[in-house]
Amino acid sequence: MSQFSRREFTQSTLGSLLGYSLLETIFRADAFADEVKPAAIEWLKQVNSLAADVQGQKLKQVDWQKQIEALFQKIDPADVMRLIDFDAITKDLKIVDNGANSLRPKFPKVEGLPTEYVFGRQVFALKKGRSVVPHGHNNMATSFLILKGDFQGRLYDRIKDEDSHILIKPTIDRTFHTGEASSISDHKDNIHWFQATSETAFIFNIHVLNVSPGKGESTGRVYLDPKGEKLTDGLIRAKRLDHKQAHDIYG
Ligand SMILES: [Fe+2]
Repeated sequence: MSQFSRREFTQSTLGSLLGYSLLETIFRADAFADEVKPAAIEWLKQVNSLAADVQGQKLKQVDWQKQIEALFQKIDPADVMRLIDFDAITKDLKIVDNGANSLRPKFPKVEGLPTEYVFGRQVFALKKGRSVVPHGHNNMATSFLILKGDFQGRLYDRIKDEDSHILIKPTIDRTFHTGEASSISDHKDNIHWFQATSETAFIFNIHVLNVSPGKGESTGRVYLDPKGEKLTDGLIRAKRLDHKQAHDIYG
């Protein structure tokens, strides 16, 4: 092969490789959108509309919790996995040895779906024994759907904030399997802690910010140790922790 024709050959090969990868991307996006069922599109619209209602104070936070959990438990988790292109976002994923990975899925751009969503979303990925560590929130309503795997899920009402502790009361302590849902708000079950009990486990999470406007509270996590001093009436005096302490103990 002459120098010239070799260069031509390289250019043309590179050209077809680039072309192929571009085509693959386009076909992949098409396939992703095609796999989404009309029922899943309707479901996602309802999730967004409920989120708008709770953020706009049209729906009480505790009522949102009932409705979002019912909606989450109505859909086949496989349909949610198609909506977020689960296979693509978890391809080559290395799950962390402490705590959980937080993946940020996108929704498909198809006819009938909003272009902007009222809620934020993420997927947590965990190895067996690892946890979404115990924490609460301010000014936020959030819901979990178990996409795959099993968990021990624990929730607590946040009764009273103190400087270095928070008084909490256990409300839920049970196994959660694929397709089951839970939720938290400023008014009910504000603290959650989910420990994976299967080899790998995945949670789809949505969060609606600024659900208690006026208080101006930041929506970040409030870490604490739920294995605190037991008081009367089932209360626990849980010490506040920082991110590292919470992951050292429970991650
Ligand atoms: Fe949370």
